[in-house]
Amino acid sequence: MNDMKTNFNSRRSGFRQKAGKFPFLENAALCRAAATIFTALLLSPPLALCAADETIFVASNPPEMQRLTNHDSSAYRAAKLFMRGVNLGNYLEAPPGQNWGVTVSADEFAIMRSEGFDHVRVPVGWHHYAGPAPDFTLSPEIFARADFVVSNALANHLAVIINIHHFDELDTNPAAVTDEFLKIWRQIAAHYREFPIQLAFELDNEPHQNATTAQMNPIYAEAISEIRESNPHRTIFVEPGNWGSVDELKNLALPPDENVIVSVHCYEPFYFTHQGATWAGPDTKVTGIQFPGPPATPLVPDPSLKLNPWVTNWIYRYNNLPADKNPSGPVAFENKLKYCRAWSDYYSRPVHLGEFGAYTKADDQSRANFYAAFRQTLDEQKIGWCIWDWSAGFRYWDKTNNRPMPGMREALFGKSK
Ligand code: BGC
Repeated sequence: MNDMKTNFNSRRSGFRQKAGKFPFLENAALCRAAATIFTALLLSPPLALCAADETIFVASNPPEMQRLTNHDSSAYRAAKLFMRGVNLGNYLEAPPGQNWGVTVSADEFAIMRSEGFDHVRVPVGWHHYAGPAPDFTLSPEIFARADFVVSNALANHLAVIINIHHFDELDTNPAAVTDEFLKIWRQIAAHYREFPIQLAFELDNEPHQNATTAQMNPIYAEAISEIRESNPHRTIFVEPGNWGSVDELKNLALPPDENVIVSVHCYEPFYFTHQGATWAGPDTKVTGIQFPGPPATPLVPDPSLKLNPWVTNWIYRYNNLPADKNPSGPVAFENKLKYCRAWSDYYSRPVHLGEFGAYTKADDQSRANFYAAFRQTLDEQKIGWCIWDWSAGFRYWDKTNNRPMPGMREALFGKSK
């Protein structure tokens, strides 16, 4: 466990961002915190509700994306393969020579399947294995490692999403590495061209900073046409900017390719899901936050933590608001997921929730409550989901004891064995 934590942190420090929209923030978790803060400070509850319930979408970067009409397209048929997934996090996205504490054996894919998952999302740091310009040739090593995962997953009747994960240069200077990005995808696409359609490609994990949605729209269009040359029938996932934010869906301008699924990420309520996450900055120092709030005994943070006022305010509301209004409860994500459904129906684009989860610093019962409530809301909205993660810091599977973490099987699949 300690090893895992050390690796987790050193990994984070290896991926620091340049100053961007929020210059005091340095990573994904921090920027998610910023989004939470801005939402809390700027939106009154009625306005937030109104925005989330809106079903008419006005693109912020006109011209607005063309609406498709076919709800029986290849993407909708493919989306049925990607309903209940798990992220194989902290594994193939690690740079060469680094071990972030996760090992994977072939029999784990059979376990995933028998637990009830139907797909596995595999973050991959392909760019770490790319040779110099102009070809950016990917090393056989990364293909061998990715093939091991993809082949074993498929052999166990799991659909698979492979992505490019933590390509930091794309976030800091998208124009400078667009050529490399496209050439990496050309090689991945050529390598997997004969693989079954249960293998999907996701273009880029959590674009952020300078990789805004508007900046990524034309890059995505180019990557899609690059991939289509060798993979005319492959399902392609894309994420909007600001870390795959639901609020960025309105800025997407995808080409009219019918076999594209849009994937978003949501880690709300952030102070609950990331409590004790050392990589997430000063706002997540308070632990002991339960889900759902309010707690039976009010939480009194240690004054030496010197919390920011918005965190103190959040904890006040956590301690005092009833369950149906509590910030550590389903209100933190319900309207976002309803918005996804409405956006999806309006544009005839399937939406997938590619990452949600809670760090294991939260107590077991609260984690189980959280995953159950989030999963139930996704199911109500008919949105396929993929939890973060399989066996790392937000884990489903307890490798030491060879069983799911407490309550997780019931939370996700409504069954116990
Ligand atoms: C990142 C992971 C991280 C997780 C939770 C994901 O988006 O890719 O590295 O552990 O968020 O913060």
